[in-house]
Amino acid sequence: MIKTLEWTDAGVRFIDQTKLPTEETYVTCKTYEEVADAIRTMIVRGAPAIGVAAAMGVALGVRDSQAKDIEGLQCDLARISDVLASTRPTAVNLFWAIRRMRAKFEDLSAQPIARIKQTMIEEAQRMLLEDIAANEAMGKHGAVLLPASGGILTHCNAGALATCGYGTALGVIRAAVDSGKKLEVFADETRPFLQGSRLTAWELMKDHIPTTLISDNMAGAIMRQGKIDAVIVGADRIAANGDVANKIGTYTVAVLAKEHSIPFYVAAPFSTIDLETADGSQIPIEQRSSREVTHLAGKQIAPAGVKVENPAFDVTPHKYVAAIITERGVARAPYSESLRGLAQTSVGVS
Ligand code: MRU
Repeated sequence: MIKTLEWTDAGVRFIDQTKLPTEETYVTCKTYEEVADAIRTMIVRGAPAIGVAAAMGVALGVRDSQAKDIEGLQCDLARISDVLASTRPTAVNLFWAIRRMRAKFEDLSAQPIARIKQTMIEEAQRMLLEDIAANEAMGKHGAVLLPASGGILTHCNAGALATCGYGTALGVIRAAVDSGKKLEVFADETRPFLQGSRLTAWELMKDHIPTTLISDNMAGAIMRQGKIDAVIVGADRIAANGDVANKIGTYTVAVLAKEHSIPFYVAAPFSTIDLETADGSQIPIEQRSSREVTHLAGKQIAPAGVKVENPAFDVTPHKYVAAIITERGVARAPYSESLRGLAQTSVGVS
């Protein structure tokens, strides 16, 4: 399995996703500031992966704090959390992970400092293991929804590179293929950052899963030709009513799927579900540099000075979503009831 990120004594080690698919290189972030930079610059990306990366960043910052007493350590923790929380605004997993690490710290506050530091590292490592287990559980719940054979369209990268395990949407596809289903994946290239062509195509080819790369504007024509039997994507944040924020272009795919009567599935761990956000209109959408649109592989492809919009995510209204696959089970409409129901089930991911 691809090791997207891992804790080492030297720091947090990431596969550098900005270099794929042509170079498979790794970077070790030795400070929490370096972890924050890795999240901001998308060396590590994908909602579950950036959540665990942030947790490890917190653990690293706390471990290396020079504070001599609990008050000093608390102060450092607040600063570390703020720096990591300021990296990317949309994926709620980032904030969930920081909140969980802070809650752990509060539980430990009566312990000696050395014990607190060690337990914070263990908590971040536990989150990585839980993410692997959540991927596997989603795979089991979701595989049955996919057809015995046919074409599956996915957008962006919701695979091993976006998680600590074998992926959310791609995890469901992997589980279905492992169970004997004969699937071909159509990967949208996912302009402008090209997560589909650079990352999804790369990791599926490594697994020998039949994969066809298409540019984003081909999805409608390919659906019309009858080549797509289901769409499955990941998510960065799912509101309480089931509205889904995911990579820009997901909404277009969902509308096209509806027009062609193709089921549109979303696979995401519970850490992506934000019951405190009522609907998609309240989800903050990250705006990224115009250079991602005006340049391709360092080459200018648009007139200098052109006005550009570059929202990194869009919101798909829940009415387009056939089901949300989580590690706790499959939620169906009405999502405001089914998601709350799953939230009350035990956290078991086996
Ligand atoms: O900007 P990115 O690459 O971090 O965006 C990633 C996505 O939109 C993924 O689809 C989402 O995080 C789900 S990953 C399991």
